[in-house]
Amino acid sequence: MNQDDQVITNLLTSYRAIPVMYSALHDGSVVGSVARRELAKILHMTIVDAVIFIAPYRAQIIYAMQDFRLYVVLISGIPTFGEAYWPAMSGEATLVKNLEPFKIPWENPVILDVGAGSVPYVGNFADVNKAPIIYLAADKRYKKCVPKCSVTGVEFTSFAVDIEESIPYYGYEGNPVDVLFLANFLHCLEDIDAFFQHILPCLPDLKIIKILEIKPDCNLDFLFDYHMFQHCKGHRFNFFDLDRLFPGKCKEIASLGDYHEMYTIEL
Ligand SMILES: C[S@@+](CC[C@H](N)C(=O)[O-])C[C@H]1O[C@@H](n2cnc3c(N)ncnc32)[C@H](O)[C@@H]1O
Repeated sequence: MNQDDQVITNLLTSYRAIPVMYSALHDGSVVGSVARRELAKILHMTIVDAVIFIAPYRAQIIYAMQDFRLYVVLISGIPTFGEAYWPAMSGEATLVKNLEPFKIPWENPVILDVGAGSVPYVGNFADVNKAPIIYLAADKRYKKCVPKCSVTGVEFTSFAVDIEESIPYYGYEGNPVDVLFLANFLHCLEDIDAFFQHILPCLPDLKIIKILEIKPDCNLDFLFDYHMFQHCKGHRFNFFDLDRLFPGKCKEIASLGDYHEMYTIEL
């Protein structure tokens, strides 16, 4: 990132802290609330330490929150998550040029896409695999908006679920999941190890994991990097993260074009 990008990134990332601190103060005894978890992440502390840390600043936080609200309510027609975020992620998906890594080496795969968003990659799987494909999309945002998918040859189902809290499916109508697909998702998690420890035993028929990530060294001209910065302070998932999680099991790192790569892990 150049210096101007860095300034913009800092401005864009600080807006989260005010509502998070405010909610964390007002969550009472809900130690594991979303706001408190988010606060702990922002401050790099445990949840308890983070709440203790902000407690003396209660008055300032309440003032900042009312100030924040004052400016937000002045604006009408603020786009929803589905209107603002999904088009940005779908735009990113169009930068994928090589579809070969979406090929699954067996017919009629059952794909579970976790953190699926607007499911921008479902068409890529449909293009290079024999129909029908069963595609299960899970995302915590589906509680508010559900994506539409009308790709030919795809049987599509979506689940509203926060994967860090529960995993409600093991297969779909007798079709066990054999592919786990994670696209630009791992950077959202607080604890990647815990995610895999939690999900893998729930998917006993899983054969491969495909992880699509932005290349560790690519230049994000479209400035969407601020989003990653919010989550993980800019750390891009890379081969070393993967090899630590699945020693020796990464069978392929394929370039999808100038921006992304796909890691394939065979279990
Ligand atoms: C960067 S977006 C990627 C969306 C999509 N996979 C793509 O590549 O366009 C990350 C998605 O993960 C979802 N997400 C983050 N944490 C989650 C969790 N704990 N459980 C379920 N979904 C989650 C977010 O709501 C968001 O839609």
